[in-house]
Amino acid sequence: MTIPAHIAIIMDGNGRWAKARGLPRVAGHRAGVEALRRTVRAVADMGIAWLTLYAFSSENWSRPKSEVSDLMGLLKIYIRRDLADLHRSGVRVRVIGDRDGLSPDIRALLAEAETLTAGNTSLNLVIAFNYGGRNEIARAARRLAQAAREGSINPDDICEETFGHFLDTVDMPDPDIVIRTSGEMRLSNFLPWQSAYSELIFMPCYWPDFGRADLDEALKIFASRERRFGGVTAHGVAS
Ligand code: IPE
Ligand code: IPE
Ligand code: MG
Repeated sequence: MTIPAHIAIIMDGNGRWAKARGLPRVAGHRAGVEALRRTVRAVADMGIAWLTLYAFSSENWSRPKSEVSDLMGLLKIYIRRDLADLHRSGVRVRVIGDRDGLSPDIRALLAEAETLTAGNTSLNLVIAFNYGGRNEIARAARRLAQAAREGSINPDDICEETFGHFLDTVDMPDPDIVIRTSGEMRLSNFLPWQSAYSELIFMPCYWPDFGRADLDEALKIFASRERRFGGVTAHGVAS
């Protein structure tokens, strides 16, 4: 079976999971953190090198203040509680998204997680936090324009590869698979540049219910897909 190098997940459906149980939305987010823990372990066990998780979008600020603060609080608790364990298991943590929009204590925690685990080589765990693809592309364009103004880059030399160097995902492989739970079939501004040729897999379960069986199913679906990258089908090659 073809094992992907990079799985990206849009962890969606926490609110509906809670609602179905008559619980407040925050209970869904808490259960979502448990699913995140399970998934990190499962992906690491499978020997997959990269896992990117969409945890908070640049559009999620439009939620009620109390929910935003619950989500910020859960990120802090997750890093404080799990960082040592992640480090012990050789996980390298990396964060993508707009740091400037985050509070100083969260910025410090994210930097601590990245610095502590910088030398690790088992699983690369990428957390997309205050991430939006259009925001990422606009920030990259701004820095590219600054570099051109300073003369360190010639506008005539700008190509897809140079542009990629200015994105948050520099040095990361593109995701082979983008999974979204909860039945919604959209990307919601998640990795629009990087997912140009990703296999999209939409799964009906709510994120807090996601487990190893769902991951296995996604991998099976991926293995059955034929990736062509604009070329001809593997079965139809004439030569
Ligand atoms: C995903 O679950 C978690 C975040 C977006 C942070 P939701 O909170 O979007 O749950 P639903 O979509 O309302 O069910
Ligand atoms: C996408 O989910 C963001 C995350 C999972 C962090 P949303 O629930 O915010 O997306 P929409 O609003 O349904 O498109
Ligand atoms: Mg949602």
